[in-house]
Amino acid sequence: MKTYRIAPSILSADFARLGEEVKSVIDAGADFIHFDVMDNHYVPNLTIGPGVAQAIKPWCKRADGTPVPLDVHLMVEPVDALAQSFARAGADLITFHPEASRHVDRTLQLIRDAGCKAGLVFNPASSLEVLDYEMDNLDMVLIMSVNPGFGGQGFIDEALRKAARVRAKLDAYKARTGRDVLLEVDGGIKADNIARVAAAGADTFVAGSAIFGQKDYKAVIDVMRANLAEVK
Ligand code: DX5
Ligand code: ZN
Repeated sequence: MKTYRIAPSILSADFARLGEEVKSVIDAGADFIHFDVMDNHYVPNLTIGPGVAQAIKPWCKRADGTPVPLDVHLMVEPVDALAQSFARAGADLITFHPEASRHVDRTLQLIRDAGCKAGLVFNPASSLEVLDYEMDNLDMVLIMSVNPGFGGQGFIDEALRKAARVRAKLDAYKARTGRDVLLEVDGGIKADNIARVAAAGADTFVAGSAIFGQKDYKAVIDVMRANLAEVK
């Protein structure tokens, strides 16, 4: 079976108890902590900044001390200065929307120079063309299956076709270079559609409301994994 990663989005967590929420979801089996940054400019919502990332970083580890990557999704414009602040705050992976940066290639390099993995995020109506030029600078491609800005929205099915197109590109790239690039999908993922998202080619799944909206995080993550185990 492929390696699948579940990345709970703390956007739907209880912000008054964020450290404990991060710990609980890691104890429940989270592989990444997905951190949604919104600036009320690129998207119509305002969330959390580098100070909060720095505050939860010490919680991003398993009971045995193994680190759990902090997956920072920037929905901000402009990107560069905030990306550098998040790198200093402890981000392991930083993704941004190409429309939000004047110089996408420079932003990707700047994230990597700061010691983080870098990725690009594609909105439902965004073209994938930049992938023809930037694959060597990418560690992750993130396909949005909702319009960015809010948790709890419905999954847009067109994202499955888009993910499949990216999967084909990533497989061809891997055959040519031997390098793995993660394919993450974000928005409206639940236990009952995660298998379809995996079948389209995703290996990393963001889920906010589906996990934090339930009392027992482990029960949800276990069902997600069981459904992923059925994917051929
Ligand atoms: C949306 C965010 C998502 C969101 C996912 O702009 O990027 O990460 O928190 O939440 P759910 O899983 O509830 O759609
Ligand atoms: Zn996100």
